Amino acid sequence: MKRLRTIRPTVTGIAHAIQNIATTRSCIALSLFSCIMCIIAACSRGIELVEPSDSAQYVLAIPPGFPPMFIPDYERPLTQAKIELGRKLFFDPILSINGTVACATCHQPNHAFTVPVPVPAGVFGRRGTRNAPTLTNVGYNRSFFWHGGSTSLQTQALSSLENEDEMGNDADNIVQTLRAHSEYPRLFRQVFGKEIDILSVLDAIAAFERTLISGNSRYDHFQRGDSSALNASERRGMALFFSERTQCASCHAGFNFTSGAFEDNGSQAPQYVDLGRYMMTGREEDKGKFKVPTLRNIARTAPYFHNGSRPTLESVIAHYNAGGSSAMRSPNQSPRVRPLGLTHDEQTDIINFLKALTDEEFVRPR
Ligand code: HEC
Ligand code: HEC
Repeated sequence: MKRLRTIRPTVTGIAHAIQNIATTRSCIALSLFSCIMCIIAACSRGIELVEPSDSAQYVLAIPPGFPPMFIPDYERPLTQAKIELGRKLFFDPILSINGTVACATCHQPNHAFTVPVPVPAGVFGRRGTRNAPTLTNVGYNRSFFWHGGSTSLQTQALSSLENEDEMGNDADNIVQTLRAHSEYPRLFRQVFGKEIDILSVLDAIAAFERTLISGNSRYDHFQRGDSSALNASERRGMALFFSERTQCASCHAGFNFTSGAFEDNGSQAPQYVDLGRYMMTGREEDKGKFKVPTLRNIARTAPYFHNGSRPTLESVIAHYNAGGSSAMRSPNQSPRVRPLGLTHDEQTDIINFLKALTDEEFVRPR
């Protein structure tokens, strides 16, 4: 016999929903509001819920040299069954308004969870304006979207589900569709011990995303002491990458090759089309700044930059070597992006180093 208990909405659960309403996509605020109202309604009716049958804690495989991943209390416990449910949802087009587009349509495993087009198409072939970023080590990110418009994996996922250029759906419809499905009601009951609601959908997807950890490239083998893991060109490229001369590692810093900061690397010089971080802060000095992306698995994630405007790594390095897209700098362009005077061979070395950041196990088709 399963033990029955009355679940009250936890303060943290609701606080996390509210705290993340700050987003440029206003529909999110509405649907979070409606789902909070549902929780409150369920609580006042004193609904009895079944204890989840799977509560074994899942231990994330953190690579040597990586810090522990912070997991907020409202996501705990992280369990195998929750991750598997999240994986199933991530690959299932049922979550889109017309059943044609899954998260994985734009975040394909063999492209390190990106899609090889400048700007991907969502439902009914509709397109936004931005390139799909990699989900490599996404569980470590403090903010999501190129402009940091979301601060939790859950609000990010809801935004993709509801964005009309992506999956075009709404929270109520998703819950209704899943509740009518032949398998999902049982799976959700096993994991969350209750009927399907939108927060559980978002939590399961987030749990799966936390497992997208990549730290087993040839560069990592080299770091762990296998000096034969990188050849001479790759080692020269690594030295250039971490040098004062190029300053690459001042932005692409640390274990995940990102400082997490917002910077203007001259990608739109001389004029901003996409205002980037400014959309969140309204500050003049944030115009044209984007979250520094990780460079792990970068050889698999072409095309590059927030708008997919650079087709190859060669074109990205040529951009940095020239000190930006145009001789006229953009107003907020970082002083660290300036003409570098790299020779052709030096550029090749840096590209070869970047290619050594591919984790073959991570980018396998699945
Ligand atoms: C139609 C293509 C498309 C679909 C479908 C899609 N995404 Fe995305 N995803 C994108 C694009 C484009 C961005 C960048 C948008 C921006 O910055 O404004 C993005 C950004 C993200 C980010 C932010 C990563 C970061 O570090 O900034 C995450 C996480 C993510 N998507 C997960 C998901 C999940 C989960 C789903 C399914 C619920 C999903 N995506 C569905 C195209 C898509
Ligand atoms: C001032 C900070 C800064 C410096 C210095 C910098 N980058 Fe970047 N890098 C960024 C930002 C921000 C982006 C995203 C820009 C955009 O999307 O418009 C980016 C994007 C990239 C990309 C494409 C990533 C993707 O997923 O689209 C590559 C590759 C890259 N940088 C490599 C380098 C290399 C190599 C160097 C040194 C020559 C370097 N960066 C120096 C901030 C920086």
